[in-house]
Amino acid sequence: MTINIVNPNIESYLDSLLLPREKWFIEMEALAMQESFPAIGPHVGQLLEILARSIQAKRIMELGSGYGYSGLWFARALPEDGFLLLSDFEEKNRVQAEAFFKMAGQQHLMTFKVGDAIGLLNEEKEPFDIIFNDIDKELYPQTIEPVFQLLRSGGLFITDNALWEGKVIKNNPKDINEPTAAVKEFNERMKAHPGFITSWLPIRDGVCLAQKR
Ligand SMILES: C[S@@+](CC[C@H](N)C(=O)[O-])C[C@H]1O[C@@H](n2cnc3c(N)ncnc32)[C@H](O)[C@@H]1O
Repeated sequence: MTINIVNPNIESYLDSLLLPREKWFIEMEALAMQESFPAIGPHVGQLLEILARSIQAKRIMELGSGYGYSGLWFARALPEDGFLLLSDFEEKNRVQAEAFFKMAGQQHLMTFKVGDAIGLLNEEKEPFDIIFNDIDKELYPQTIEPVFQLLRSGGLFITDNALWEGKVIKNNPKDINEPTAAVKEFNERMKAHPGFITSWLPIRDGVCLAQKR
């Protein structure tokens, strides 16, 4: 059983406050709807853009980019010499993401690596201003230390689905499957991590927002 994190009436009200969006966002949102693909949606998208602008991010990495929807929100915040590293283990997502970035005129900002996110994280050496985490939930706990190593001080670690359809409040072991256990473990470890200051935003499916001290 899932729990509404945001009251549906409030959700509709928030929808009425959304800003108009460019045609590529509308097309990507329609594709997400059609394929039941869990893109972050416009509310979280706008938040990502604001967060990136607010710390003047120049280097952003995404773990689990799908076909580039969340990435295009980050791209709006980047300066012309910014760098956006997208990643996903599906080659077809790279092809689609590159087409959408081209449509948006943002392809110069973006590099897309196909492969396992944890392996790709460990390959990177230069610090990032933001790392956005949206991969399979079972892997969330494994992202924490490599992300911590790769973020600059003051950089943001942003994780989607941190309230996981409300399943994080389950306590009976028989109701807790592997992804739910992993998201709960991730949240507890972020709370306890001395190198991060962390807050949880109950927007859409929950966003965990952490800043490296
Ligand atoms: C929730 S979707 C991403 C949605 C995307 N951030 C957006 O808002 O449009 C998760 C994506 O992560 C990819 N993924 C899941 N686990 C991964 C892993 N371990 N390494 C690389 N990609 C992964 C999946 O192929 C999928 O495209």
